[in-house]
Amino acid sequence: MSHAWFAGPSCVLTIMCTSGRTARGWPRYWVDFPMAFTFVCDENIIPVGSRKTFDIGGESIIVFHLKDGFFAIQRRCPHMFASLEKGTMTGGQIIQCRIHKAQFDIKTGKTIRWAHFPPGIQALNVLRSQKDLKTYPVKIEDKKVYVEV
Ligand code: FES
Repeated sequence: MSHAWFAGPSCVLTIMCTSGRTARGWPRYWVDFPMAFTFVCDENIIPVGSRKTFDIGGESIIVFHLKDGFFAIQRRCPHMFASLEKGTMTGGQIIQCRIHKAQFDIKTGKTIRWAHFPPGIQALNVLRSQKDLKTYPVKIEDKKVYVEV
């Protein structure tokens, strides 16, 4: 969800609520703009079991076609930013980073196992604490894949 602040004596938009006042005493309005789904490709470009990388809306993402649908995650590993594009798939929906072997659930973005390779990398984890992956909503319409970024 994207948003913006507006200030003024009144506003014609009704989807907002006031939240305090500006220094001049004018009411401040918080407005939420729904993020737009962006077309990324035709469905058949990503067969079941495969993935494809896209740069859309200033974000670099990977779209996976799993057995039960399409899912999108951030392209860069949150540990030390290696590309997950060539990560190893395990268990049908887990992606493992090829550098330090952190594992993430593609559907939820949750960390399954943080960086643990090579031995001793855990010392670095003091500086690079565990983070989940960012995920993006995906929808299919007319056999086309759209991602909300
Ligand atoms: S860069 Fe991915 S686990 Fe370290």
